[in-house]
Amino acid sequence: MPQDFLWWRDGVIYQIYPRSFADSNGDGVGDLRGIRSRLDYLRDLGVDAIWLSPIYPSPMKDFGYDVADYCSVDPVFGALADFDDLLRQAHARGIRVILDMVMNHTSDQHPWFIESRSSRDNPKRDWYIWRDPSPSRRPWNRHGGPPNNWASVFGGSAWEFDAKTGQSYLHLFVPGQPDLNWRNPEVKQALFDACRFWLDRGVDGFRLDVAHMFYKHPDLPDAPPKLGLRGFDRQHHFYYEHLPETHTLWKEFRRLLDEYSERAAVGEVAPDAAADYYGNGNDELHLAFNFSPMGLPWNPRAIQRAVVNHEARLPAGAWPCWVLSNHDVTRHISRWGSGALGDARARVAATLLLTLRGTPFTYYGEEIGMRQANIPRAEIVDPPGKRYWPFYKGRDGCRTPMHWNDGPHGGFGAGKPWLRLSRDVDRINVQRQQGEPESLLNFYRRLIALRRSNPALQRGSFRALIDRPSDVMAYLREVEGQAALICLNFASDEAKFDLRLAGGGEWRALSSSVTHSGEGMKVTGEMTLYPNEALVLGRTA
Ligand code: GLC
Repeated sequence: MPQDFLWWRDGVIYQIYPRSFADSNGDGVGDLRGIRSRLDYLRDLGVDAIWLSPIYPSPMKDFGYDVADYCSVDPVFGALADFDDLLRQAHARGIRVILDMVMNHTSDQHPWFIESRSSRDNPKRDWYIWRDPSPSRRPWNRHGGPPNNWASVFGGSAWEFDAKTGQSYLHLFVPGQPDLNWRNPEVKQALFDACRFWLDRGVDGFRLDVAHMFYKHPDLPDAPPKLGLRGFDRQHHFYYEHLPETHTLWKEFRRLLDEYSERAAVGEVAPDAAADYYGNGNDELHLAFNFSPMGLPWNPRAIQRAVVNHEARLPAGAWPCWVLSNHDVTRHISRWGSGALGDARARVAATLLLTLRGTPFTYYGEEIGMRQANIPRAEIVDPPGKRYWPFYKGRDGCRTPMHWNDGPHGGFGAGKPWLRLSRDVDRINVQRQQGEPESLLNFYRRLIALRRSNPALQRGSFRALIDRPSDVMAYLREVEGQAALICLNFASDEAKFDLRLAGGGEWRALSSSVTHSGEGMKVTGEMTLYPNEALVLGRTA
């Protein structure tokens, strides 16, 4: 490992959805002790950090993204002492821990909101966004209608009328998630204090939930309409996304993190704006997720364009951050293929993710090729899934319990899990893949190890090599006398690649998603890629 190894820049980060990783006490919901019991698995996989989706006390209206106390752990996940233990044990294995900070909104059960809604003159009234009903809008009740036309991300109006004080509060997500008023300095102080609480405990960083939405235009103007399917998609979001104050906030947050050593923040922001959250390259967020490949078809030109455009927009010194799957979207293996094709493409996708310039985030289960599970309507628990079924089935299908083995509940825990497991668990599970040298799990392991040992893959520059229609996406990663060449064949036919595009010379195969045994083989001139082959080659200049 290079001496100046920085975990958030040079490492691989693994997202855990705690409800679904490992259940230690048989109540059907994953927990911190469960995660602790699987740390050796994560160390052997080679990841440098884990990001835990929210573990704080919560009524779970949005499964933890509705926080009722920022400085504690929900009993369903364990206790603070379990967290400290997990942190200690993770650190002992060289694994950093990132918490999910959900600070745009709280739960409606947070004591701050309970106070805020208690009366119009409560000192915490202004911690949230309260407005009088509008007399001119289609009335909800005898008081009038919503203060403006904003739609909630999860459907319906973004305003909830509160009869007790005769005003409405803003909630860009479910009504149980009232938006905080970040224009009030006390709000910022309270949440920065909550972050310090965790930093002082030794947490290595934060994933910042909807980091682009914190500030709302002070006049709350109506959102102009645009074409789209669901309510939220049919409005422009100018008045609460990417306001300039947001960038000022994250710069201040960076200074807070910089008071500690090696702490980092990664922002969840709308994909088109990820490059804007790095400030001058090193004075805003350390990382901002680039989600753009998630929305794209299995098309090398489209994916390359997304990468090249992002690289071009990043300020000097900024470090990209790539992600293909998470707890909000259909798992990429199901998005991009099915059956054997899905398996083959999963390896190409893994190679892409782990060889681009930037920090890769993997999502639990992707390393064994867990598919999107099909959850019957009666079992759907995700709020947007309930609201929009069958047009949108929600996010439960990507949040199902981890497949550890082919035993009861896939080895997730002794009790009936909170979400059903996918039926393919007897075929797709960790235990089975550990025993197969060429399994997807072992492929991920080898690629992660290769990335770690290869400075060009870890830190090298990025240059795309093909700018004409082709089934192949190819790029060079270069650093001080070393180069890695990545050739991804997106097609189910053979494809040619001329090594002269990469400067010619003799290259050595470092990883192939198809031949395995061909590794170390020397190649020159024009080479032929197998159908759906992801090939990584190395050269020392
Ligand atoms: C983020 C989270 C998502 C959550 C929402 C509201 O987008 O990733 O799961 O529902 O914010 O907190």
